[in-house]
Amino acid sequence: MEERVDVVPGLEGIPAAESAISFIDGEKGVLEYRGIPVEELAEKSTFLEVSYLLIFGRLPTAREFERFKKDITFHTRLKLKILRMMEYLPEGGHPMDYLQATTSAMGMYYPARNTLDERVRYESIVRLIAKLPTIVAACHRLRHGDAPIQPDNTLSFPANFYYMLFEKEPDEFTEKIIDVVLLLHADHTMNASTFSARVVGSTLADPYTVVSSAIGTLSGPLHGGANEAVIEMLEEIGTREKVRPYIDGKLERKEKIMGIGHRVYKTRDPRAKILQGYAHKLFDQRTDEKLLEVAEEVDKVVDEKLGHKKLYPNVDFYSGIVFKGIGIPTELFTPIFAMGRVSGWLAHWLEQLRTNRIYRPTQKYTGLRGERYTPFPERARD
Ligand SMILES: CC(C)(COP(=O)(O)OP(=O)(O)OC[C@H]1O[C@@H](n2cnc3c(N)ncnc32)[C@H](O)[C@@H]1OP(=O)(O)O)[C@@H](O)C(=O)NCCC(=O)NCCS
Repeated sequence: MEERVDVVPGLEGIPAAESAISFIDGEKGVLEYRGIPVEELAEKSTFLEVSYLLIFGRLPTAREFERFKKDITFHTRLKLKILRMMEYLPEGGHPMDYLQATTSAMGMYYPARNTLDERVRYESIVRLIAKLPTIVAACHRLRHGDAPIQPDNTLSFPANFYYMLFEKEPDEFTEKIIDVVLLLHADHTMNASTFSARVVGSTLADPYTVVSSAIGTLSGPLHGGANEAVIEMLEEIGTREKVRPYIDGKLERKEKIMGIGHRVYKTRDPRAKILQGYAHKLFDQRTDEKLLEVAEEVDKVVDEKLGHKKLYPNVDFYSGIVFKGIGIPTELFTPIFAMGRVSGWLAHWLEQLRTNRIYRPTQKYTGLRGERYTPFPERARD
């Protein structure tokens, strides 16, 4: 009998695990990684240091960090066979599908079935963080008929990603923006893709399978895809004057405005605030952009009309604008989200393994019982 309790759709409000990785206070707009506010980390730290913090539970010493950075840098290249495999994937496939398929295939080249071995764990963590940007950049180039570019390991982690995409180095500000976006996406408590990573991890599947399942979960428009939709919306609106009639029309038709609202935050998303700051600096330097102007008018009108429902811009609202400002193609927004979130997935995977119990929830059965098989002649006719 598996019918003891009421079903909670989407498991909303049900703790799926104990976790010490990140913390959100949705009323106050707080997000902390291992107890440290993201605002402080975004200002003073880097994505790679934050990855160490999330995965190993504390900030690294200088020597630990040097080793971690060196190991990641050493593993940024892709095997020729993996690149060849990517060449044969259909060009019309979404970059998230490339990323999921390639991550999954990587597990065959770097067998990591023994998830209890500390060395296997460390090497898989390093490879996954190191290679995701190389896959995303290669996929983008292949889909546009260009040859992938080998990583330049004299560059920083974010600069190398930009270089592999565009064959040129970013300026310092662009490099910082990429790093901050990765850092701000690195973990966000028990969201759908993290839950998926923990469920797959609980079966003792290898980490490449864990991460590829999480990438698949992130690919859905209700999770990772909203930042693309925000840009489409802002481009459709076009000018500041058209914002008010657009929002009014949406609300009259009871349609949702993309990048607005959050299941947990009932005030401004702290990540959105940080990215809004970067968007300003970015557009102060590159003044021809109308996008931010339209976005801030949407922000203002939404605040006026929906503030009483505690609906504010979320991280996706400003991340897309910032990406657009540094020339990142829209279809790469969600893959870049995955490049950041991989650190959180891996941290949750390790945490899950520490006190592992395979996930096996129950269900409330609502179907028939005691039915009989009916042969064709006795069944209802077409
Ligand atoms: C993020 C989201 C799924 C959270 O949803 P939720 O917590 O389940 O909130 P609900 O859908 O129950 O909405 C609560 C109320 O706010 C309204 N609302 C929520 N998001 C809205 C939006 N983006 N635009 C307009 N109204 C919105 C709902 O219509 C509902 O109004 P009602 O109480 O009068 O019926 C939702 O806000 C949304 O779809 N946002 C747009 C997509 C997006 O940006 N996703 C990325 C999230 S990081």
